[in-house]
Amino acid sequence: RDAVVVAIDGPSGTGKSSTSRAVATELGLRYLDTGAMYRAMTWWMLANQIDPGDPVAVATASGKPVLLSGTDPLAPTISVDGADVSGPIRSEEVTAAVSAVSAVPEVRSRLVELQRAAVAAAASAGGIVVEGRDIGTTVVPDATVKIYLNASPEARAARRNGELTGARAVGVEATREALVRRDAADSGRKVSPLAKAEDAVEIDTTDLTLDQVIEAVVGLVERRR
Ligand code: C5P
Repeated sequence: RDAVVVAIDGPSGTGKSSTSRAVATELGLRYLDTGAMYRAMTWWMLANQIDPGDPVAVATASGKPVLLSGTDPLAPTISVDGADVSGPIRSEEVTAAVSAVSAVPEVRSRLVELQRAAVAAAASAGGIVVEGRDIGTTVVPDATVKIYLNASPEARAARRNGELTGARAVGVEATREALVRRDAADSGRKVSPLAKAEDAVEIDTTDLTLDQVIEAVVGLVERRR
């Protein structure tokens, strides 16, 4: 049986990560969170006083950090220069800067190369679920199954807000505004913007439970492999 590659794209707050990890676990596949890689690159820029709003500086520095992604769906990790940054990459500072860093072509070409290497390495393990914004369009255009998850901005903000607790809970309205701003930046950039691949199956998760979304994706993969 050939290795399976499941590409899962869509804006934030649609349940992409939870769905991708559960599908990988259920089907015995590896898992790659490409958003974590863009976040790790952004974290490194901030840690090294490189202005995320300066594309030339970001491009010049983008070859320096050594990124390593763990592909276990039950315990995904990401390290930069040997240090685990799984926690710090979720900070508000990184979230606010990541769209600018990920719009820089040199950043994208470097990370896409690493992502394709992870996909190739997972072939002997049966395959991989890869989640991001440009997986079906750019990273793995020949993926076995392509899924595009979507949901209303209100549902996405409510979910995101539920994930942020305590001092980080900022209110649904502020969350909605930040989400819409980040999606607009991700959809509007020149190099491989957030987009549904022509041959992707779109699932609107607004009124679905996580289990229903997982079941739908697993069903699609089982039918195609
Ligand atoms: O998925 P997550 O919200 O963690 O992604 C963080 C950011 O990384 C996105 O807002 C986007 O700017 C960038 N990204 C990207 N291409 C991907 C995955 C993420 O540009 N394939």
